[in-house]
Amino acid sequence: MHAIGVDIGGTKIAAGVVDDEGRILASTRRDTAPDDVASIDQAIAEVYQELSADHEVGAMGLAAAGFVSPDRTSVLFAPNIAWREYPLAQRVRELLPDGGGDVQIVVENDANAAGWAEFRFGVGRDATDMLMLTVGTGLGGAIISERELVRGKWGAAAEVGHMRVVPEGHYCGCGHEGCWEQYASGTALVRDGQSAVISQPGRAARLLELCGGDEHKLTGPQITQAAQEGDGLAVELLATLGRWIGEGAASVTALLDPELIVIGGGVGAAGDLLLQPVRKAFADQLSARGHRPEAQIELAEHGNEAGMVGAADLARR
Ligand code: BGC
Ligand code: NA
Ligand code: ZN
Repeated sequence: MHAIGVDIGGTKIAAGVVDDEGRILASTRRDTAPDDVASIDQAIAEVYQELSADHEVGAMGLAAAGFVSPDRTSVLFAPNIAWREYPLAQRVRELLPDGGGDVQIVVENDANAAGWAEFRFGVGRDATDMLMLTVGTGLGGAIISERELVRGKWGAAAEVGHMRVVPEGHYCGCGHEGCWEQYASGTALVRDGQSAVISQPGRAARLLELCGGDEHKLTGPQITQAAQEGDGLAVELLATLGRWIGEGAASVTALLDPELIVIGGGVGAAGDLLLQPVRKAFADQLSARGHRPEAQIELAEHGNEAGMVGAADLARR
């Protein structure tokens, strides 16, 4: 059965028709605003109509960056989007002609969806125990244990981005301080880049050039580009991000003992410039190192499309 997967980000949604093999047959996107949840519903209804006009689909999975209810219909809370006890599946259904007919509409956590895609169709296809980390606006997690997606009692397992790593650290959208996602996310990379531009203008010439002289316009992809050109400051910024990811992954390993840790999200584009510092920090921080088998750390194979693919596949089960 073909299914539509929709990845709902802070500023855009990306949707695709996905076949049983995890292949994307068609895709489309829309811009949205994180504080305007009705515009998100509308955009989802539009992409559904656009894609289902040319493809027969039996289900639609919505990958949402937040805490999802165990019945997979609602977003209970989202740190970076204005959803609170939000009946997302129903709101979208109300906007479809004939209420969408028989189509199944299922909400999944975005990182769980991405992790599922990598486990079924990506770098984790041979793994039984896997941790996925999606590094973007926030830091998402997915746990596959003994080939099953771990959901927890109330659907909110694997919210690793909100583990406290710095007492009294940066304020987080979840209302607490010092959460891991405030240090290990694309948002953190840009924040650190902006302060480096101000505090080390001499070293930041290339970054300043890329952001047109306005540090408020600095983006993650610009930092990655500068690093790939060999810019010392940008390489350092990615290494700092990598260290936060790797050290935290070692702590999560103390709990879960995965065989594979997959890094996804936009910053994956940095490749080895990110992955090497992640692996080094992980090794430095892993307890009992040298006396235990060690997890592999790899980049997601489906890149930014993992959420879409996984949401579609989870929606038809
Ligand atoms: C949210 C998660 C989400 C992650 C990645 C976090 O802030 O709490 O639900 O998976 O961001 O989008
Ligand atoms: Na998750
Ligand atoms: Zn938090």
